[in-house]
Amino acid sequence: MRLPTRLAGFAALAFVSIMILMSTLWLGYGTDALHSSPLLRNGTFLDSWSASWTTEQLQPRFAYVQYATDLDYLCNAAINFARLKRFGVTYNKVLIFPEDWSTGQATAIRNFHSANPDVELRPFAVLSTSKGDATWRNSLTKFHAFALTDYTRVLAFDSDSLVLQNMDHYFLAPMAAVAVPRAYWLNSDDTEVGKQLLGSHIMLIEPNQERYKQIIDEALASGDFDMEIINRMFGKSAMILPHRRLALLSGELRATNHSKYLAPDVGEEWNAMGEISRAYLVHFSDWPLPKPWKRRTKKQWEAALPICPDDDVETADRPRCADRFMWSGLYEDYDDGKERYCKF
Ligand SMILES: *[C@@H]1O[C@H](CO)[C@@H](O)[C@H](O)[C@H]1NC(C)=O
Ligand SMILES: *[C@@H]1O[C@H](CO)[C@@H](O)[C@H](O)[C@H]1NC(C)=O
Repeated sequence: MRLPTRLAGFAALAFVSIMILMSTLWLGYGTDALHSSPLLRNGTFLDSWSASWTTEQLQPRFAYVQYATDLDYLCNAAINFARLKRFGVTYNKVLIFPEDWSTGQATAIRNFHSANPDVELRPFAVLSTSKGDATWRNSLTKFHAFALTDYTRVLAFDSDSLVLQNMDHYFLAPMAAVAVPRAYWLNSDDTEVGKQLLGSHIMLIEPNQERYKQIIDEALASGDFDMEIINRMFGKSAMILPHRRLALLSGELRATNHSKYLAPDVGEEWNAMGEISRAYLVHFSDWPLPKPWKRRTKKQWEAALPICPDDDVETADRPRCADRFMWSGLYEDYDDGKERYCKF
């Protein structure tokens, strides 16, 4: 009996010593770390820190962002916000627009707000510069998404697009300051990886004040358009999102060679119906056909229609002349959305 008792005594002593040591370390750690850490002040996170913190933050804040520079874009944004809602997205929706809008535009915004109370309005101060034309200044507008630092991550996309599906899952992608798809239509097979151009019509961004400032400075100094700036500043560091499904151009349905879009599955048979039904977003790009909110002539429309060979037939997985059918469908969906959501 002597040995176990002694062992027990020894164990108890060891236990107490370890506890004392641990609490000393813990308290020491607590006082030092808590009081010197830039993260914590009196036990709460500093605001500036929660801003640059991203998907690992305990309470991530995500938002879909569109920008409007005129009433046409406001209409496009309304259509897409309505579509996001219909697709049941869970994250916030934010509209950025110039704060100096005229009276007529201000009325439109008020009407937009009563029709879309779920969309957060973020007016921003227009950069006062004599540089560049209106198109250039509009192209800078989207960069304001980088300044939405009360969100940990935003998905900002040009409003001359049509949302085709819920995109919630993109917010859970690995942390990256900027994630964009390649401008697949501009790169050729032999373009080196580092020289492949990135698109800027959809950007998954971690808002950050410092980056915002750098981008705006760069834009003002160079006078370049948004895509050039994104490429110069993030060309070698951006996370690449697969362009298929996310960066589809409507013009792809008028093309005859789809290998760039389908890469790496270049041998896959093109099926416009399959492609549209799996895509998340399509960007209207059918030059010289005017953008869908602009007037177009019957002649322009007919010249732009995807080809429909006389001998084309319906198959189990696509209608007859699927390219033409799906492509026209995008414009019809736009017109229908405009009819419903743009009465302001
Ligand atoms: C921490 O809290 C105390 C008491 O609430 C307050 O006096 C002090 O200013 C706070 N310190 C900081 C850095 O916020
Ligand atoms: C399609 O384009 C690729 C280059 O992007 C080219 O390599 C290929 O030969 C083209 N296919 C046809 C059938 O023209």
